[in-house]
Amino acid sequence: MRLFWKTVIEPVVEILQPEVIVEVGSSAGGNTSNILEYCRRSGAKLHVIDPATKYEVSDWQERHGGHLIFHEDLSLNALPRIEGFDIVLIDGDHNWYTVYNELRVIEERCEELSRPFPLVMLHDVGWPYGRRDMYYGPQTIPDEYRKPYARKGMRPESRELLDEGGSNTRLNNALLDNEPRSGVLTAVEDFMEATEQDLDLLKIPGINGLGILVPSKLKERNESLSEFLSTLGFPEAAVRHVELVERLRVDAQARMKEAKRQQKKANEQLRRLRRETRRLRREVEDMKNSRGWKVAHNINAATLKLRAALGRAKAQK
Ligand SMILES: C[S@@+](CC[C@H](N)C(=O)[O-])C[C@H]1O[C@@H](n2cnc3c(N)ncnc32)[C@H](O)[C@@H]1O
Repeated sequence: MRLFWKTVIEPVVEILQPEVIVEVGSSAGGNTSNILEYCRRSGAKLHVIDPATKYEVSDWQERHGGHLIFHEDLSLNALPRIEGFDIVLIDGDHNWYTVYNELRVIEERCEELSRPFPLVMLHDVGWPYGRRDMYYGPQTIPDEYRKPYARKGMRPESRELLDEGGSNTRLNNALLDNEPRSGVLTAVEDFMEATEQDLDLLKIPGINGLGILVPSKLKERNESLSEFLSTLGFPEAAVRHVELVERLRVDAQARMKEAKRQQKKANEQLRRLRRETRRLRREVEDMKNSRGWKVAHNINAATLKLRAALGRAKAQK
């Protein structure tokens, strides 16, 4: 999601000047740092929700003081505790159950707080998780909503997972895409169908797709937002073109990962062979210094001398 910061997220943030931003899914904190930079400038607060970041949360909290409120928890546990939502960025567990309920809980919490539904941006509304579930924590999804899954890769042309290679081979990917109630985009569409909120969905293709869910009233009230969003709308032909470029990108990325995996395997084999060569050299050295080797060496030398003497004797005859 962080790759959308400069082109989409930051301009929206600058227009709306939110006081409270919520980020679901922080990982290594690439986007979190960007948002915190805005919070530092404006005095806003950022609530980050992630049960397993790749950084030390206490260090970040110390560095950013009151601007950062961290929830080391699943989104569906933490969202009901949030004090308010002006903008929400969703990039956590990419499956229907989680995303549908994140939107539902945000709506309920806004009603409790008597606040309007916020602008929500969601990553991964495109391939591969727009129409396919993935589970960071399969055990956190109720059985009836969890699709059969495997740690195998995917390719855009195939509904099924691949036996070898493809994208995201290490993640828990649902065996099939395009099932009812599967994927991030389906969750957003189903929520829009179920809610009474008047919402528009803008989809930006490429880099796995970004969805912007905007309350119509917010757009009506804020002309700058409305103008900016209208510049993001892609004509149909451009969408098809970007989707083609995205396929090539995804394919190249999967092939690069596969090549790196093969290279790692080859390097490990090379290291093993070097270790084995060193071990064999040491064994030969030890053998050369052993008593048995010396005796064999002397016998060998004596045999050669004897053969030479016999040869000379034969020649004199
Ligand atoms: C794709 S990464 C987020 C990347 C980040 N937004 C960025 O742009 O750099 C997904 C993150 O979501 C977290 N996550 C997984 N399930 C979650 C859940 N149910 N609630 C909140 N975060 C979750 C994972 O721990 C992981 O760090």
